[in-house]
Amino acid sequence: MSKAALNQVSWDQFNGLGAIEKAPYFVENGRSYHALVAQQFSRPMLEDLCSLATDVRRIAKTRDGSRFLQSQLFDKHAMLYFAQPSTRTYLSFYSACQIVGLQTMNVRDSSTSSEVKGESPEDSVRTFSSYADLIIMRHPAGGFAERIAWMLSNTSRPVPVVNAGSGKDQHPTQALLDIYTLARSFEKTGGIDGKKIAFVGDLKRGRTVRSLAWLLTHYEGVKAYFVAPPELQIGEDILKQLDAAGMPYEITADFEKVIPEVDAIYMTRIQDEWDVDNESSRIDTSKFYFTKDHLSVLKKDAVIMHPLPRRKEIDPAVDSDPRAVYWRQVRNGMWIRAALILSIFGCDDAVRTYYKEHK
Ligand code: NCD
Repeated sequence: MSKAALNQVSWDQFNGLGAIEKAPYFVENGRSYHALVAQQFSRPMLEDLCSLATDVRRIAKTRDGSRFLQSQLFDKHAMLYFAQPSTRTYLSFYSACQIVGLQTMNVRDSSTSSEVKGESPEDSVRTFSSYADLIIMRHPAGGFAERIAWMLSNTSRPVPVVNAGSGKDQHPTQALLDIYTLARSFEKTGGIDGKKIAFVGDLKRGRTVRSLAWLLTHYEGVKAYFVAPPELQIGEDILKQLDAAGMPYEITADFEKVIPEVDAIYMTRIQDEWDVDNESSRIDTSKFYFTKDHLSVLKKDAVIMHPLPRRKEIDPAVDSDPRAVYWRQVRNGMWIRAALILSIFGCDDAVRTYYKEHK
């Protein structure tokens, strides 16, 4: 049991905390038990997960290796509860579960669950948890995954909860795969330390950027550029966290000026599902598209990223450039999620040992 345990704190006390203060409640002995906020991952934890993901990726290349990985969690069940649209994150977790042998069940639409009979969402998830050893969930309400983790920790059958995207606030496992992609992309150019990274698009409501920006504070000398129309700029709450962590950043609407300066460009789509009055349609976002012409001014070792799905913000003609790594991000997501699940269940040491003995 960690020092800060979720069954030792009332919901009101816990819910009043910021993400940084909540983080210790989700971690036990340097490993995530729940994976709910980006703020719970320290740099050593990130490095451990990235190296474990690489071991898993290499072990999975052989049939014996795949069989070994599947033997790790064949007796466990995961519930995939996705109450918000998702294809890639759902399939990414589903594939990750298959790699480590976890059997899966899913609920993808609350209109097919007893919530339509008036059951509270908490009761629904508590029911699912009775069949599962792990809950992986996406929900439109910010903080709902945390509420479930707290609730289950206060039952006789607590199970770990992984946040696969919550409201507009957090997408911690996307941030993990983004870090893994950055680390792999910069393997030969000194790693993530010292790099300049631009975030472009809807930074106000894009949860991937909010989670990743925080993780970058763990790297020395990283500078962030938040490039968006003023109406869609990043939230003050994140900027305060970056200030406190001493990470330099620039806020700008001048995408053209930023492109040649940076080592990574993280594009995002307009999150208009959150519009109240169609307000995004009145914002000119065309200056925040990455086009084929931009490739000639982009640094030669830079990378272009996107959590996907994309709309018009990256011209498909850019896809064939070796600096476009968004399809690699998708594959990296599967490996880092498999690594996270293995580490939640304490199988990481066995996997590392297997890799050392079989390489
Ligand atoms: C992102 C999300 O759901 O926040 N998608 C994903 O998980 N890869 C980004 C988005 O929907 O724009």
